[in-house]
Amino acid sequence: MPTLSYDTQAVLATDKVRFQGQEVACVIADDPYIAKDACEAIDVDYEPLPVIVNPKQAVADGAPVIRDDKENQPDNVIYTWEVGDAAGTDRAFEQADVISRLQLHYPRSHPSPIECCGSIADFNRATSKLTVYMTTQAPHIIRAAVALVAELPEHMIRIISPDIGGGFGNKVPVYPGYVCSILASILLERPVKWIEDKTGNLISTGFARDIYLDGEMALRSDGKILGVRMHCDADHGAFFSDAQPSKFKIGLLHSAFAAYDIPVAHLRARGTYTNKAPGGVAYRCSFRVTEAMFFQERMVQAAADDLGMDQAAFRRMNFVRDEDFPHRTPLGFLTDSGQYAKCLDVGLRAINYEEFRKQQEEARSRGRLLGLGISTMTEPLGAGNSREYDILGIKMFDSAELKVHMTGKAIVRTGARTQGQGHETTWAQIVAHELGIPAEDIVVEEGDTDTAPFGMGTYASRSTPVAGAAVAMVARKIRAKARKLAAHLLEVSEEDIEWELGRFYVRSAPDRGVTIQECAMAAYSNMPDGMEPGLENTAYYDPPNLTWPFAVYIATVEVDPASGVWDVLSVVAVDDCGVRINPMIVEGQIMGGLTEAYAMANMQFITFDAEGNCVGSNYMDYLLPTAWETPGFELHSEVVTPCPHHPIGAKGIGECAAVGGPAAFVNAVIDALSGTGVRNIDMPLLPDRVWEALTHHRDVSGAPPVRTDD
Ligand code: CDP
Repeated sequence: MPTLSYDTQAVLATDKVRFQGQEVACVIADDPYIAKDACEAIDVDYEPLPVIVNPKQAVADGAPVIRDDKENQPDNVIYTWEVGDAAGTDRAFEQADVISRLQLHYPRSHPSPIECCGSIADFNRATSKLTVYMTTQAPHIIRAAVALVAELPEHMIRIISPDIGGGFGNKVPVYPGYVCSILASILLERPVKWIEDKTGNLISTGFARDIYLDGEMALRSDGKILGVRMHCDADHGAFFSDAQPSKFKIGLLHSAFAAYDIPVAHLRARGTYTNKAPGGVAYRCSFRVTEAMFFQERMVQAAADDLGMDQAAFRRMNFVRDEDFPHRTPLGFLTDSGQYAKCLDVGLRAINYEEFRKQQEEARSRGRLLGLGISTMTEPLGAGNSREYDILGIKMFDSAELKVHMTGKAIVRTGARTQGQGHETTWAQIVAHELGIPAEDIVVEEGDTDTAPFGMGTYASRSTPVAGAAVAMVARKIRAKARKLAAHLLEVSEEDIEWELGRFYVRSAPDRGVTIQECAMAAYSNMPDGMEPGLENTAYYDPPNLTWPFAVYIATVEVDPASGVWDVLSVVAVDDCGVRINPMIVEGQIMGGLTEAYAMANMQFITFDAEGNCVGSNYMDYLLPTAWETPGFELHSEVVTPCPHHPIGAKGIGECAAVGGPAAFVNAVIDALSGTGVRNIDMPLLPDRVWEALTHHRDVSGAPPVRTDD
């Protein structure tokens, strides 16, 4: 089947199995127990083949070609891609006083929503209509994919994404299980259900990250960053199947360093096939932004250390200044707003920065290791605009439909699909804010392609920047029509009408007015001659730019030198996501993101042994932090820089803390180890890895070694 990245993927393996956990057969039965028994009865005669588990092996001389099913695929390289100014960057490095270098691995991780993926396909022979209930974050794209793959007419396909539990990016791609249930239903003409179990979810669907990053920074001795070079090797597993904007092969990795005023930069990227389940999913992330910001903030810390400069001062000196917006980043993005230094100041005050540095010195003299890590970043949220962002050629915009019934109650539908982010609340709030209809009189519906207008789905924190904007725009269309109705009811011209929330009135006689509800009734009972009846509309919103929220995450930790165990002392988060529609939801998003960041930094890994066996296929190995392990977070909302182009000034927030958080924790541990010569410990910073670094004064790189029980 075609993938969302112009590759092909086996639904079921035929001659060659390319990763552990790849689907080889499909069994249909009346109940799951019979199906399981039937699976047991399938005897597959596997012949062991050479195995490739990382990009280095993938590009080694003589490496076996994993995708020998593809024409014109002589090796394991999927793509090479570069952006920026290579020659200019070379010149910047020639002028540097100091060159700082860093290499790291962002390990494979898994979004691991508690609820796995699944689908129920129901093909009705009488109507020729296919209805599929499925766990998808992007129902309309799935409908198009099914139409193209199954060669069914698009209008005879209905995709329903009900409450699917968590998504986190795991539920964007098309998985073989979905395809099998659809084909089986068409063939058998009855509903067919597929549901993953937890291990299936953890070893075969939705992997993220797995990227080797190295780079260097050209620095002037006073601390000015002159240029950056970055290279990355991305391990995509056996199929390139995650969603990517067509133009950018490695997602938005080139958003790295967007917060800093750097004259020139160059990025080279290479994607490779390996014998692992497909990876590269944007786990709570805008197409590789997580990797970009992690590398950025680890690199910035290393550079400040190499210069012997204060971490906060180095950042402040190099930030894009408030007055310099709009700012073109050296890798091609246009950032448009922010108050970076102010956010940093709020964070430093909250963490009591100066005081902590003194305590750190004092503790060190008594053999205690305290550390402080800063992560500051702006990230691009809300793909796209359609000029630059498409998936398989389909432009990235969104839409919203609003129907105001005659009694003034309303229903709003969008092409997004909430997975717990609270669209039901926030979209109703937007309409309430635009029209003055109480939020409790507004119902929000999403996720059914037969009723919802088109949308590219909910991932990459694009709901508020794109679908949310469409909701505001459609409400404004409704208000424009209601104004005409008000003029008719008040028997004045439109120009003589004023608007206050929920009510139009005559400018010269403010007591003479009509409510939005009265206008709604008039749309069905008393409209002016020539006016189309009804009060409903649809808006398609193509954002002029991405939104650029800014965040400061600061963590303090204590490392136990005897065991390598590190405890979080405090975490401060300052998020500027523009106008907050619902502050409580925003705080929930930040806390959830920080929890995932802490898990990635501290405890989570899924790795592979030399034979390609996945280690970490259950929650005994792949740890999810509970409330018990999760530290407390202090959140700050005092800096608000409205987005200049979003209709209500909002910027995305959903993924910020998961993107920016990991570097704060890792930087804090590395800071605690300062003076030992340790520059890097790759995530997760398990106690034995921290202990090894501390004891042997050396970096600890790569995925954690595989546990063997024998
Ligand atoms: O696409 P997704 O919903 O995951 O991300 P988002 O739109 O960036 O933010 C997550 C949720 O936070 C939204 O669905 C809104 O409910 C809320 N939000 C808000 O209230 N104000 C903002 N400025 C941004 C998001």
